[in-house]
Amino acid sequence: MKVFITSQSLVEHLSNKTRPLGMVPTMGALHHGHLSLVKRAVKENQSVLISIFINPTQFDDKKDLERYPVNIHADLCLIKEISEKVLVYVPKVDDIYGNMVESKSFDLGGLDEVMEGEKRSGHFQGVATVVTHFLKTFSPDHAYFGEKDFQQLLIIEHVVQSLKLQTKIIGCPIIRESNGLAMSSRNSLLSDDQRKLASKLFEVLQFAKSKAKKIPYGTLKNMVAGLFKKHHELTLDYFKIVDPKTLKEIHLEETVNRGRGFIAAHLGKIRLIDNLDMS
Ligand code: PAF
Repeated sequence: MKVFITSQSLVEHLSNKTRPLGMVPTMGALHHGHLSLVKRAVKENQSVLISIFINPTQFDDKKDLERYPVNIHADLCLIKEISEKVLVYVPKVDDIYGNMVESKSFDLGGLDEVMEGEKRSGHFQGVATVVTHFLKTFSPDHAYFGEKDFQQLLIIEHVVQSLKLQTKIIGCPIIRESNGLAMSSRNSLLSDDQRKLASKLFEVLQFAKSKAKKIPYGTLKNMVAGLFKKHHELTLDYFKIVDPKTLKEIHLEETVNRGRGFIAAHLGKIRLIDNLDMS
């Protein structure tokens, strides 16, 4: 395993590496969800690059950035256990942004105007800025992203297509804890009791899936809101069923034949998100 701090040294090194090159961009605090992406990249590519970089421009809330878990030593050990051959890029902010730490402006096709984009101003412009920087600098053949951040995955696919970048974007299934909680770096900030409560998000999505074909979506939305009234610590931010390509919400009077359910909730200071195919 080789660790690079600067993109210049990494680009030089990559010029001698055999292709295809698979890239797994991460913000560290790695869990089994990330590791499943790394394993898949190792299986499908001759060379693999993992980035660990907490991207400041995608945080609209300074406190969220300050709280974001960091554990580089543990991350490197976990990566090494999967493969000794991978390359790891752990840059400082100025290696990516120089002295202008700000997002560029991308056409995100309106996909950033709903759900996480509506709630977290500028978040997806920040994600697009850092991901396109990686893809343009290292030109991976494949880049791997988890469906846990399904909206992010769709937006990255859109940007890659509109900029005609050559990297193939590969979406990978959500990895869950045994109680159904979708794995996330932010879960490490939860207490044991909160982890139990956090698994309600997946329970609610499964409940919605079991009802979605039978009752109008508007009624289902009210039922979901009602389920959250029981838990004072866990507050619902949104529950939506949307078209999985356009992210447009389905009509309230419709029953759902196809669509994806998205949920966001606050648990103490932590914001949780999850999603599930409803078909
Ligand atoms: O999903 C993440 O961890 C981040 O948004 C990403 C894609 C690494 C960009 O910073």
